[in-house]
Amino acid sequence: MANALNRHEALSPRAFTAAIVRRDAFGARRAFRVLVAEVAGAVIGYASFVAGYNTDIAERELWMLDLFVRPRWRGRGVGRVLVTAVARQAARQGFTCLEWGVRDSNRRAIRFYRALGAHIGHARIVSLRGRALAVVAAGR
Ligand SMILES: CC(C)(COP(=O)(O)OP(=O)(O)OC[C@H]1O[C@@H](n2cnc3c(N)ncnc32)[C@H](O)[C@@H]1OP(=O)(O)O)[C@@H](O)C(=O)NCCC(=O)NCCS
Repeated sequence: MANALNRHEALSPRAFTAAIVRRDAFGARRAFRVLVAEVAGAVIGYASFVAGYNTDIAERELWMLDLFVRPRWRGRGVGRVLVTAVARQAARQGFTCLEWGVRDSNRRAIRFYRALGAHIGHARIVSLRGRALAVVAAGR
């Protein structure tokens, strides 16, 4: 399903394997946490998140990595339930901020987030990946 979201976002559709999910979401040194929405034992959506730090407010926060609902289950409140559950995790940890990214082109998601009362800024995500990172790290 994480690959389906990547496909939706025009990113690598094969980045995740079951082994990677087991290691990075559920392993002893997990890198992020996942909440899933289930119907009759089948996973129909998920939200993943990590603890981070927000230097704008000098406080810890939760950063939502992914939010995804299988197409046939959309528009039935599942996305809202998942965001509510992640917000609850943030509140439980005493955080006052939950943040995540959205593409400008994702109008439906943006409408949803506005309706939640979210502020949507204009910042862009900047990535140095692979060789570009290695080059900068090497100081070349
Ligand atoms: C964004 C996404 C997670 C929302 O999940 P969802 O289960 O459809 O959302 P909900 O049913 O809880 O609806 C949330 C809001 O979306 C809007 N919405 C729902 N169905 C809609 C539809 N068919 N058309 C337009 N807006 C709709 C409504 O504003 C709704 O708010 P409401 O509860 O006040 O009515 C889901 O559409 C999805 O997985 N999209 C593809 C992946 C993606 O874009 N992820 C977000 C990346 S930032």
